[in-house]
Amino acid sequence: MKKISIIYGSSTDNTKAAAEQIAALLTEHAPEVLNVADCNADSFTSADFLILGTSTWGCGDLQDDWADMLDRLKGVDLSGKRVALFGLGDSSSFSDTFVDGMGELYEFFRDKNCQIFGSVSSDGYSFDASRALVDDEFVGLPLDSDNEDHLTQERISAWVKNLKPSL
Ligand SMILES: Cc1cc2nc3c(=O)[nH]c(=O)nc-3n(C[C@H](O)[C@H](O)[C@H](O)COP(=O)(O)O)c2cc1C
Repeated sequence: MKKISIIYGSSTDNTKAAAEQIAALLTEHAPEVLNVADCNADSFTSADFLILGTSTWGCGDLQDDWADMLDRLKGVDLSGKRVALFGLGDSSSFSDTFVDGMGELYEFFRDKNCQIFGSVSSDGYSFDASRALVDDEFVGLPLDSDNEDHLTQERISAWVKNLKPSL
């Protein structure tokens, strides 16, 4: 069976909770769910499909544990790796940097020649600017558990459903 790893960076457990919700919809693949703080390069190279989640902190900054991991992955060959991204943010209080961390992950793994899956229309999201947009589409799944938690489960379900044929 193909190995799917869901790797999250989370400071107050919102991204962790989303990772667990995603995993619950993929039980047929028995994904492993890992905190990026506990990972090493092998966690990335050994998976056939990576589902990577981060929150955004400061003003558009990647979650701290991810920042450390990207440093450690700089020299690692990930070309051709299949990747999907999700990001937690606050579209109200941080409307100019909404899920920027997901955009930073995207840029890193794109530049590593990974194949990125799971883009999402920006329709239905209200924000001013985001580093995670390419041609008006999000590069992965944005979630806002601070203001729109009632939408989280249905957003995750729709995204996972679209992702399944690529897994
Ligand atoms: C001090 C602070 C700074 C934040 N900065 C941003 C930001 O720039 N962009 C954004 O979309 N969300 C921002 N957020 C919102 C968090 O990303 C959001 O609460 C997220 O759900 C936290 O996820 P975590 O618990 O997995 O770390 C910020 C939150 C705080 C408290």
